[in-house]
Amino acid sequence: MQLDQLKSLAKLIGDRRILDLFHADSNRAEGFSTSSGDLLFDYSKTQINDDIRSALIQLCDQAKLADRRTAMFAGQKINETEGRAVLHTALRNLDGGPVEVDGQDVMPDVLETLQRMRVFAEEVRGGAIKGAGGSFTDVVNIGIGGSDLGPVMATHALAPYHDGPKLHYVSNVDGAHIADTLRMLDPTRTLVIVASKTFTTIETMTNARTARAWMVDGGGDPSQQFAAVSSAVDKTAAFGIPEERVFGFADWVGGRYSVWGPVGLPVMIAVGSNAFDAFLRGGQAMDLHFRSAKWVKNMPVMLALVGVWHRQVLGYASRAVLPYDQRLLRLPAYFQQLEMESNGKSVAMDGSALAMPSGPVVWGEPGTNGQHAFYQLIHQGTDVIPCEFMVAANGHEPELAHHHRLLLANCLAQSEALMQGRSLDEARARMVDKGLTGEELERQARHRVFSGDRPSTTLIYPQLTPYVLGQIIALYEHRVFVEGVLLGINSFDQWGVELGKELATSLGPIVDGEVNTEGKDGSTAGLVEYALRHRG
Ligand code: F6P
Repeated sequence: MQLDQLKSLAKLIGDRRILDLFHADSNRAEGFSTSSGDLLFDYSKTQINDDIRSALIQLCDQAKLADRRTAMFAGQKINETEGRAVLHTALRNLDGGPVEVDGQDVMPDVLETLQRMRVFAEEVRGGAIKGAGGSFTDVVNIGIGGSDLGPVMATHALAPYHDGPKLHYVSNVDGAHIADTLRMLDPTRTLVIVASKTFTTIETMTNARTARAWMVDGGGDPSQQFAAVSSAVDKTAAFGIPEERVFGFADWVGGRYSVWGPVGLPVMIAVGSNAFDAFLRGGQAMDLHFRSAKWVKNMPVMLALVGVWHRQVLGYASRAVLPYDQRLLRLPAYFQQLEMESNGKSVAMDGSALAMPSGPVVWGEPGTNGQHAFYQLIHQGTDVIPCEFMVAANGHEPELAHHHRLLLANCLAQSEALMQGRSLDEARARMVDKGLTGEELERQARHRVFSGDRPSTTLIYPQLTPYVLGQIIALYEHRVFVEGVLLGINSFDQWGVELGKELATSLGPIVDGEVNTEGKDGSTAGLVEYALRHRG
């Protein structure tokens, strides 16, 4: 990526403020927004102007983004370090024709599995498939990372559509998680879905064995009450899950991109297959947009370029995702995995050291809660944190429309406040109104200054429907892809999680007290000794 030109453009900004850009161009909001279907992405409250945008767009051509995009959708093995294609888009390619990997059309398998999921989900919902004690009242999904965060996020997001059994998610190997979940449930009327792409993940397999023992002890029947979602079907058989209860997917679906396929099974059970289809269609619509829109109109591309501008050009280390949508409360966590596991890399595709910062730290919380917690720092802290606001024009509760109006007003107020700020003179005037004078006025006024000129973007949508959720998730997936291409990295591997897993395995017998701490550093040895000494 040629950042030099962009860095020079950044220097030219000088003391020009974002508000000046609005004063100079009455059509700025329209010119620096883009839409896809009913979604509107507004990035006008950033320092990006025509020159900067043109330079950013040139990066796409320099990085051969169009070729990389074609390669991804065509099933080429763009995940080079694992020798895999990247085709989560095939999972939502409902009527888009063949998609080939190694000369083989993968769509018949994808559609067949989807149909099996629909039948299974509807039979669970309707009570035709039941547990030892009757129809299923509860479903527990056991998985972690990509086998958990997507369905958890989508289940919360689609709560208004939820008319199936109650959903629970267990991810943490901390026994507290499964204990607190199972305690409330009937082991004869609970369906357990074990979701693990590899079916080896220690947390998931430990929880799955605990759930099986709980079910047997409580009179349930694991042969009727367990299902599996995995790309390792040999391992699911070894665990004892009947073949007709196993929903497989290929290795070209990355864990953090997998909610569209069998990993989404719990969501389908919760909301039904029609609503799940609408979710897939929303994702597919974003794919079509991403594949056809010109760069400047292309929502994932512009979202990515705003990201590159803030992170790689201006050096802002983090970005906040701030959904003004309580049902998107798990979206920041989902984006953390999607973005940080994908683009948190310091080696380029060719093995050379990355010559620029990797992807940023992604974090956030739903508004308005965040306003009463960490927004203080966003407004007045010394670091600039670009904010990505999201909000619906409508809620799902017509009788509570006044709540939604307040929510929307708060969202818009925050981006306005971040941009506008409050000058020292304005702060002084407020203190005068309060009757302060002299040194006390000056002192108090300084605490009430907001620098302003802090960048944000806003994604606004009509309502959080399954279709819109599909659009939003696919939008961010493609954003991550584009940023990865511009960085020249592989967004689809995750070697950075391996070392900790290996060390945890080797620490197992040490923590059990079976092997001594010889060879361990002093800190680790000391902590193990403390744990052993205090073991009850
Ligand atoms: O630890 C990282 C990771 O491999 C993620 O990429 C993945 O989503 C998660 O673990 C769970 O893996 P699995 O679905 O194979 O259990």
